[in-house]
Amino acid sequence: AHSDPASARPGRWQPAVTQDPILRKHGAQGNGPLGQPVSRIEGPLKVQGKARFAAEFPYEGLCYAALAFSTIARGRITTLDTAAAEAAPGVVLVMTHRNAPRMKAPSLMMSSPTAAGASELPVMQDDQIHWNGQPIAVVLAETQEQADHAASLVRAEYAALPAVTSFDDAKKTPRQLDNILGQPPVVEIGDAEAALKAAEVRVDQIYRTPRHNHNAIELHAATVAWTGDELRVHDASQLLDLTAGQLADIFGLEADKVRVSSPYVGGGFGGKCLWDHQILACAAARLAGRPVRIMLSREGVFRIVGGRTLTEQRVALGASADGRLDALIHTGIVAMTTHNSCPEQFTFPTRHLYAAKTVRLAQAVADMDMVANTFMRAPGESVGTFALECAIDELAEKLGLDPIELRRRIEPDKDPTSGKPFSSRHLIEAYEKGAARFGWDRRSPTPRQRRDGEWLIGMGCATATYPYHRFPGGAARIRLTAGGHVTVSTAVHDMGMGTATVQIQHVAARLGVPLGRVTFEYGDTTLPRGVIAGGSTQTASVGGAVIAATEVFVEELLKLAGNDSPLAGLSLADVETRDGGIGHRDDPARFESYESILRRSGRDELSCEADAPPPAEMEAFSMHSYGAQFCEVRVSEITGETRVSRFLGSFDAGRILNAKTATSQFKGGIIMGLGLALTEETNFDPRTGRIVNASLAEYHVPVQMDVPSIDILYTDIPDPQAPMGARGIGEIGITGVGAAVANAVYNATGKRIRDLPITLDKLM
Ligand code: MOS
Repeated sequence: AHSDPASARPGRWQPAVTQDPILRKHGAQGNGPLGQPVSRIEGPLKVQGKARFAAEFPYEGLCYAALAFSTIARGRITTLDTAAAEAAPGVVLVMTHRNAPRMKAPSLMMSSPTAAGASELPVMQDDQIHWNGQPIAVVLAETQEQADHAASLVRAEYAALPAVTSFDDAKKTPRQLDNILGQPPVVEIGDAEAALKAAEVRVDQIYRTPRHNHNAIELHAATVAWTGDELRVHDASQLLDLTAGQLADIFGLEADKVRVSSPYVGGGFGGKCLWDHQILACAAARLAGRPVRIMLSREGVFRIVGGRTLTEQRVALGASADGRLDALIHTGIVAMTTHNSCPEQFTFPTRHLYAAKTVRLAQAVADMDMVANTFMRAPGESVGTFALECAIDELAEKLGLDPIELRRRIEPDKDPTSGKPFSSRHLIEAYEKGAARFGWDRRSPTPRQRRDGEWLIGMGCATATYPYHRFPGGAARIRLTAGGHVTVSTAVHDMGMGTATVQIQHVAARLGVPLGRVTFEYGDTTLPRGVIAGGSTQTASVGGAVIAATEVFVEELLKLAGNDSPLAGLSLADVETRDGGIGHRDDPARFESYESILRRSGRDELSCEADAPPPAEMEAFSMHSYGAQFCEVRVSEITGETRVSRFLGSFDAGRILNAKTATSQFKGGIIMGLGLALTEETNFDPRTGRIVNASLAEYHVPVQMDVPSIDILYTDIPDPQAPMGARGIGEIGITGVGAAVANAVYNATGKRIRDLPITLDKLM
């Protein structure tokens, strides 16, 4: 019933399932390769240990790096004694600010097309300390163990300056930003405070979320090698081209002298960007005249890779007794540094979720002396939806309404703050499907009504949302060889989410060839320029470039086909791709295979490249994905322990391109959300700004036994404005989870916890 935005273009989705051995093997059904549950094509390489990650590239003369970190948050190094480290066995070089090559400072991510810095601080260029954990020395040695040992022998003394290491202190002097990721920092419609005061029913609460650290299973790592003034970097990266451009800038090289590749990444989530370690490894390699491998320790990741910052948010809702919003206020403050670019945009979800007569959204930052905080899966939305969706639950209770019914009453018919039409929005449908499958009607609206021995049982729900974006600047190349094999190339990333698999499905569908005849080349800056893997944008961005390249490809083939072909005289509008070739849309007899066209034209191959069209859809429409998260918890009355016993996510994210990888993405997001809800918290010592739980023993991510079976539903309604009909799915899974858990905990216990994570002590 829903229109297919892709079907009007050359390359109609082909009913190729029965002829395609790979699709048959994966139990594909229905029409065409898209949407089918195809397993990740690189999966076998990974489980066999054949996929080579950044820290696994062998080089002649390779040496190993280890870092020493500062132990104060702000000040100056007065003594840096490296003699013992230099004399330690196997040591090749100790690099400090005294002997490091001169390097330009990185530029802040998104400030230019080659800016990749999470921070704009100079790296090891002077004796200044800006955060507790800043690298003060790099040791190179013949083995990793020798490097680690020698780094432990570096002794430093400091002249400390007063540092802002407590959020309570920092927020006394809030700083207003003039924009938040390019958006106005304040949104105001009417007089929301006055409307709140006058409202019949009110909720007005403060919600808090803590710092989180990036803990991808693969530690941050790079192997780097210089040949003259050419720099080769094997990185674990989600922004290859930006990293190459930024490194060229830092070391004063021509852009084409830096090659970065990253074919496999063991998890990214926003953290696999350009941090000090890659820059230091390149500098030390140049100084030593040898290739260098750097792999951060887990503690090292906590020290030099920033994560999600903490937030303090006020949500105030004023409603009429029949459940319409008179006032919607979401304001607050986040910790940040003066040298990074991530203000944790927690007010963003509130800009488009609900209809309200008056609105006030504003956020400020509180500067602290700490490692640059950064983007971490659904920055803004993950913590913003915690506050907003808990408040909506609190309001529903005060109104005596079911929380889903309240959301039905405040569902907007256009974007409430921008006034733009929605490209596609089926939030209520997602709620209804989810509620039916989850058994929401079994929930008691009154808390503490269900128990099983010491365990109180409750259910909660919350809205998930994440914006659609498509980054400009990506390109793709399609190459067809005489044997009929198609290779699609673009410098993008597959961090395990299925980028390559899904694009193989896409190209197979678009060109009407079996999956086995398509290769997707990615992960290397020698390929046509790619976009970043961030902001859940990559799939749509790659899709736009691949569609453009396909059109050029088919046009070129029509030209090559010439007058002796059954296709003679046909233009792009007359044809479709099918059965490994081009055919007339309405005349099955007029067809020529790709190989035949190549052969007759006497060519070995055809290669076509095209840029993605600019993302005009984002200007005209409010484009977001939506979802409804449902949670059941069991809370022990004796220990305060919360166990999530059931979870269901029902998503509206446009067309689902691969049922298996999409389901995994949604589940992965939800699992990370369970950590956000219940266990994850980075603890600073407020006296020193030192992270005190810099290990997986003390920073608790959910493990197998913490995660119940998770049920995933999706509407699968193509977005008519998005290439391939698909919006992003990498981040929405984590959004709404914090609130769904907190609302379930309330329903179980009668206790509203507005301060994440919901640890045992808060429930006792
Ligand atoms: Mo995501 S925080 O854009 O990797």
